[in-house]
Amino acid sequence: MTRLVIVGSINMDLVTLAPRFPAPGETLLGERFLTVHGGKGGNQAVAAARLGAQVHMVGAVGDDAFAEPLREGLAQEGVDIQHLARIGNCSSGTASITVAGGENEIVVVPGANARLMPSHVETARHLITQADAVLVQMEIPLQTVEATLRLAHAEHVPVILNPAPAQPLPLEWLRLARYITPNQHELATLLGADASEDFLRLMRRAPCPVVMTRGAEGAWFRDEGEPMRQPGFEVHAVDSTGAGDTFNAAFAVFLREGLPNAVRKACAAAALSVTQLGARGGMPRMADVDALVART
Ligand code: RIB
Ligand code: NA
Repeated sequence: MTRLVIVGSINMDLVTLAPRFPAPGETLLGERFLTVHGGKGGNQAVAAARLGAQVHMVGAVGDDAFAEPLREGLAQEGVDIQHLARIGNCSSGTASITVAGGENEIVVVPGANARLMPSHVETARHLITQADAVLVQMEIPLQTVEATLRLAHAEHVPVILNPAPAQPLPLEWLRLARYITPNQHELATLLGADASEDFLRLMRRAPCPVVMTRGAEGAWFRDEGEPMRQPGFEVHAVDSTGAGDTFNAAFAVFLREGLPNAVRKACAAAALSVTQLGARGGMPRMADVDALVART
């Protein structure tokens, strides 16, 4: 069984379904509203657990009405929440999401996620040393991202950095990652490049192996040598929220099958995830991924 430590954010997603995105200053009548559990860290934890991994989550919730349901939601999926901090006088992370035509727009208020500190990662050191891989994203303080990269690297545990949401980082940090998993926009931001720059060239320029997600078009990946392409799996997209998180979790879980297989299965898992509403809706089990991969 793959053992993963996931260091990251946990949010309550406040999701509005709309016929289209409103223009600035415009009021629009939406079609549906739902609150579902999200946050990049929490989503990756749940996606990995559904794929059969043993998952330890390092994260934080506040002391508001969302805190307990968010904890429970992770625990019910079999995620170990012993290292989930509870921050007093603080709201839990929230994400206000508008979904229109299978696409989304998101505003995140970090709340307790902004209080996840390097010390929290340090207390999970014993779990990190025993993990097959560590996954970290960037909805938490960058000092905590750095601490995670350094700790895992020092303990010779492969760490996957999902550099989302997009922010530039010191190149030196990227060298600590076994893989980075940006989308195109995040890769450009990360390397301080122009979005018009050729992506294959950007991938070669990165100081570490890159798996670049391309939405419905799949992913490009490069360890050493030339970048390779994995086409996307065709599905009917209902909600793309959390597709990247499912991709990252599946990539970490299937990495033991080698890079091309891990990317193929991660693309399949992400495709399945967009067929249902909500970040965690549609996150597949192992058998679902295998079935989709076998069909194509
Ligand atoms: O990656 C998807 C997630 O981003 C959502 O669940 C939302 O919480 C935002 O953090
Ligand atoms: Na989904």
